[in-house]
Amino acid sequence: PTIYVITPTYARLVQKAELTRLSQTFLHVPQLHWILVEDAPSPTPLVRDFLASSGLTYTHLHVLTPKDKKLQEGDPGWLKPRGVEQRNEALRWLRETAAAAGGKGPPPENAVVYFADDDNTYSLQLFEEMRYTQRVSVWPVGLVGGMRFERPVVQDGKVVRFHTGWRPGRPFPIDMAGFAVSLKLLLANPKARFDGDAQMGFLESSLLQNLVTIEGLEPKADMCTKVLVWHTRTEKPKMKREEALVKQGIGSDPNVEV
Ligand code: UGA
Ligand code: MN
Repeated sequence: PTIYVITPTYARLVQKAELTRLSQTFLHVPQLHWILVEDAPSPTPLVRDFLASSGLTYTHLHVLTPKDKKLQEGDPGWLKPRGVEQRNEALRWLRETAAAAGGKGPPPENAVVYFADDDNTYSLQLFEEMRYTQRVSVWPVGLVGGMRFERPVVQDGKVVRFHTGWRPGRPFPIDMAGFAVSLKLLLANPKARFDGDAQMGFLESSLLQNLVTIEGLEPKADMCTKVLVWHTRTEKPKMKREEALVKQGIGSDPNVEV
């Protein structure tokens, strides 16, 4: 089955580095279709050229997060959810494309959808775990939620609760990186999407609660005992020297893409 990987992304100093790391992981994954959604008013040349030479099968979309939904300089990182409009735009594209195909041709019936942020670290094994998802599959996520890892707790092959340090009573206390959904299930529930107004920590639940119950979750990665994805975050590079040189008129050549 094809895996549709949905990635929101936005322009910043580390963007090309993040996309390079991500794409070079994806190049090792068979039957992967990357849906890269820019948080931008129009597609940027950097991302367009990057994708064109990536060697991947991809779809390039864009939607700008409205200003009132976007974090402002100085806001705490948890105030507003990120990547919401972009993931919903990808879901819209998948549904539209499926409808246009009218059952014939792509997207294939048994395809799987995964939401992969551009800064996380993904093991190749993760994609083989999710590939045979019937409805919604789940697994542990490393280095997230202020913990070594979070995970669904499995008993007799079923998810019975979640190991998490924060608000375990959420409908689905799972990070975005910790689940995949079958395309069929998303097409059968045409209204299911992410709710950007959901309370902090409830973004994943806002999609999943319209698709599945805890009993219906399919535990992967050896019954959720293996960490195959890490919620890494990239440090913001310091530009003190650059700014000093720019003032002297000898900053790094702006024509060199970084
Ligand atoms: C955590 C979760 O892992 C995310 O899935 C969730 O969207 C996020 O919290 C949230 O609270 O909304 P975190 O590392 O804090 O992740 O978020 P980022 O990695 O900064 O952003 C998630 C995705 O959205 C990334 O792919 C990023 O490139 C994208 N993004 C971020 C945008 O498209 N626009 C932005 O302005 C910021
Ligand atoms: Mn992140």
